[in-house]
Amino acid sequence: MQSLDDLAERFGTDKGTRQVPSGLVPKGYTSFYERILRRDLPDPWRSAKMVEIGIGAHAGSALLWRTALPGWQIVMVDYDRRKLRRMEQALEVTRLASPNVHGVLADMSDPVDAERVGVFVDGKRSPLWLVIDDGGHTHEQHVLGFEALWSSLHVGGWYVFEDLHAADCSRTLPWLEAQIQEGDLEVLEVWSQAIPGRDVPSLAAVRKA
Ligand SMILES: C[S@@+](CC[C@H](N)C(=O)[O-])C[C@H]1O[C@@H](n2cnc3c(N)ncnc32)[C@H](O)[C@@H]1O
Repeated sequence: MQSLDDLAERFGTDKGTRQVPSGLVPKGYTSFYERILRRDLPDPWRSAKMVEIGIGAHAGSALLWRTALPGWQIVMVDYDRRKLRRMEQALEVTRLASPNVHGVLADMSDPVDAERVGVFVDGKRSPLWLVIDDGGHTHEQHVLGFEALWSSLHVGGWYVFEDLHAADCSRTLPWLEAQIQEGDLEVLEVWSQAIPGRDVPSLAAVRKA
């Protein structure tokens, strides 16, 4: 697998450790993703599936996942039609267009839309191994997305919340911990990571047991 940090820089997403032209602060999440991809998740050429909520202005993460995981189906969700269009253009321009990348127009603050994403993802037959919530960064959206997708996640797969340092996310980690403690979620591993200069975790992830 190619270095995710190199790909983050090449495609301009803030998931890496290096500054990208958008000016967004690099978050250094790539080391977490490299670790779970090497240790826990199917080979990049195998039939597997992931979802990322939030495409972003330049579709950097869609390009990164499409390059790193050529055999996987990649479902990218956004409520902004222009982001979906830009993703399609970026995939064409970089010659990475592929029937394995699916854009879904959905507002994850709307329970009906969140449910529709769950149904769409279930309809793509390969097993779901990874969900990344990097969308609206609110606790309510975290809960709706999680309720729609957790049941489809393969045992051993990871569900990741990015950017918990954003203002509206402070309830997400305590909510997740409470659900685990109350036994509502069977979880193998919990991971959280802070970005330099912040003492609150910016990434939290749970692995399904
Ligand atoms: C931080 S950007 C995503 C960056 C991208 N994942 C990356 O790593 O490069 C957040 C994206 O979430 C989308 N978004 C915000 N609120 C949303 C919502 N309620 N439903 C779906 N997408 C939303 C925005 O349109 C934006 O494209």
